[in-house]
Amino acid sequence: VLTRKFSISTSQNAIKTVTVIGGGLMGSGIAQVTAQAGQTVTIVDLEPEILNKAQKSIQANLGRVAKKLYKDDPGKIEGFVKESLDRIKISTKVEDSVNSDLIIEAIVEKLDIKQELFNKLDKLAPEHTILATNTSSISVNAIGSGIKRKDKFGGLHFFNPVPVMRLLEVIKSDHISEDTYQTMMEWGKSVGKTCITCKDTPGFVVNRLLAPYSAEALRMYERGDASAEDIDTAMRLGAGYPMGPLELADYTGLDLKKSILAVMLNETGNPVFEPIGVLDKLVKEGKYGRKTGEGIYKYNK
Ligand code: 3HC
Repeated sequence: VLTRKFSISTSQNAIKTVTVIGGGLMGSGIAQVTAQAGQTVTIVDLEPEILNKAQKSIQANLGRVAKKLYKDDPGKIEGFVKESLDRIKISTKVEDSVNSDLIIEAIVEKLDIKQELFNKLDKLAPEHTILATNTSSISVNAIGSGIKRKDKFGGLHFFNPVPVMRLLEVIKSDHISEDTYQTMMEWGKSVGKTCITCKDTPGFVVNRLLAPYSAEALRMYERGDASAEDIDTAMRLGAGYPMGPLELADYTGLDLKKSILAVMLNETGNPVFEPIGVLDKLVKEGKYGRKTGEGIYKYNK
């Protein structure tokens, strides 16, 4: 039985202010759990519309969290939501938002764009600032290859939906200092997550195991071995997963799924990660899953 718990930690940690770059699903979830834990957070995105959407979804999700946290004391719900929201700032400018103890990148899964961002952050951020990437599968060392502060750099990989999923993968880059690693582990705890440590290997732990499973499910669907609904029902009821593989792919985004598979193919050469026709087609048509209203399934927007 899966149990889900929202915990607000009171543990002391060196991180008091956080900047999250990228206001998508992941970025807004990371900002939410940070604010819930009492830390100040700035979300940076180039698109004001994405920032507005992030604020709205955070407000709604904070409400869900607060309802559970204060089920015996509902008078505290409103205050919790308001105080958490007050700790979240938004900005469209990276250069105005680097004055934090920790900066987490959650932008598009493209190596060159991430490298460019980290090189910029390395130059602009205060000396003590730790830089982290939330990449799903790209090599953390490659992302940070151009920065000077390699001892203050690593991976912090969250899972969707961030406020609910209790895991945080802390990825050790080649030159991370023990101090930075311990601070990352402590910070993860402070935002209510259970941390595991992983080397900088393709897909880390979760995506290394989830990606082949998900690819095989997409191929079964493509071949017509079973309907999408039946594949999902099979894994929910036959293996006890909370969601079937196809609904999960729609949930996290087919665009992201495609880029994870491409990175994994490139890094491992394993043919299980070869392109999948049905996935390529849906992505080409802009059908990314829930966030666009259609993927493998159709959704009410
Ligand atoms: N914020 C706050 N609370 C949320 C939430 C959110 N975004 N989404 C769901 N919840 C809460 C709900 O309020 C609900 O609370 P309750 O049980 O107390 O009523 C609880 O979570 C369950 O939600 P629902 O009743 O809406 O629906 P489900 O029971 O189907 O749960 C789910 C939804 C938590 C998403 C569950 O289906 C699940 O765990 N799915 C698997 C998710 C997963 O595998 N994620 C990892 C993907 S891989 C990844 O992220 C890696 C990256 O690199 C791509």
